[in-house]
Amino acid sequence: MNNFIFENATKVYFGKGCVKEYLACLSGRYGQTVMLCYGGGSVKKNGIYDEVTACLRKAGQSIVEFSGIGANPTYAKVLEGARLAKENQVDMILAVGGGSVMDCCKAVSVAAVYDGDIWTDFWARPGVIDFEPLPLGVIVTVAGTGSEMNGGAVITNEELKIKTGRDYPKCNARFALMDSTYTYSVPKFQMVSGGFDILSHIMETYFSEPDEDNVSDDISEALMRGVIRDLRAAIQNPEDYTARSNLMWESTMAENRIIKLGKRMDFQCHQMEHQLGAYTNCNHGAGLAVLHPVYYRHIYKDGLSKFPKFAVNVWGISPEGKTREELARTGVEELADFIREIGLPTTLRELGVTESTDLKAIADSCNLVFGSYRKMTHEEILKIFQECY
Ligand code: NZQ
Ligand code: ZN
Repeated sequence: MNNFIFENATKVYFGKGCVKEYLACLSGRYGQTVMLCYGGGSVKKNGIYDEVTACLRKAGQSIVEFSGIGANPTYAKVLEGARLAKENQVDMILAVGGGSVMDCCKAVSVAAVYDGDIWTDFWARPGVIDFEPLPLGVIVTVAGTGSEMNGGAVITNEELKIKTGRDYPKCNARFALMDSTYTYSVPKFQMVSGGFDILSHIMETYFSEPDEDNVSDDISEALMRGVIRDLRAAIQNPEDYTARSNLMWESTMAENRIIKLGKRMDFQCHQMEHQLGAYTNCNHGAGLAVLHPVYYRHIYKDGLSKFPKFAVNVWGISPEGKTREELARTGVEELADFIREIGLPTTLRELGVTESTDLKAIADSCNLVFGSYRKMTHEEILKIFQECY
């Protein structure tokens, strides 16, 4: 294990009925006025909005609503939320939704108390948040990003065509309420795309040094087997509580920094997907599903200390009679088969990329990271995009 320091400031309340049981008491701790934030309206159809507002009223809270936070939240939407929070002098922000709502709210919590330009100072490049953002609580309605238990917030600057994420410990929510029955109403496509996002977060961490035995990789292997099993079960029966509750916690575990401890980490695929998103507004998990197998076909020969383990320990492939390289390649192809099995796209065309999309501009705009087994170049990223087309 490499050296590390670990802290996670978010207190988690997990399980069926947790919102009804704890929200009234929790929201009252931060003051009178709560800014209730949500997305495009799914919460009104599935009853979550009614349950949450009833709890807030029970606690005697005044509610200011901030709605319409779309997928891949924009900087403009963050500024709108910050204005509303300031005008109404809200005491806390309550994000009810998936990664987009939670991420937008984290950025709002910073912008609502900061006089400068948060894009320039904290998202365009890393900064130091040494002040207290507005208190934030989250209620998760879809499993995938793991945003509920980290300080990560991915924001899109539409003008600059840049989608970028930063993880500031000060942006961790004070509390996260996680009732996986809330996810029963998530449409199948969104469920599997969130599920693949979980798998991607784990793989982006796993496929990096150190390669010798370590606790983080052991947990990652167990989590990957779990995500595969639980996604299959939830596709069969969307109201399978065991599968849904596992997926919800797997999502959190993938991104609450625990499996990253002592690891170098990759996240090159995420960099590529984020820029695809900035140019095409494609779905995050679906974009990752298209990119991952092609990316791994490019790098597996450089990672022969880890890719064979993936094949054996995650996909249950017998190593007998196979070279390390064959085994590594088999693991990657198992991943590609699983993506097809669960119904995610396998080409950029399915994400809305057309012949007129400037793939070179997107490739050139990707950050190059060196966490995995080979550092990409912009030329190789373009080649990957072209192979995905
Ligand atoms: O907007 P509404 O109407 O609520 O519908 C949403 C949205 O259309 C729907 N949904 C959510 N809960 C539902 C539901 N529909 C029915 N029933 C429910 N219970 O799901 C759709 C997608 O929601 P969204 O929040 O956009 O999805 P996701 O959780 O995948 O978040 C994606 C965003 O998070 C970023 C992504 O880049 C993307 O911008 N990420 C954030 C990370 C982080 N903070 O750590 C890490 C990730 O790698 C990722 O980059
Ligand atoms: Zn992700």
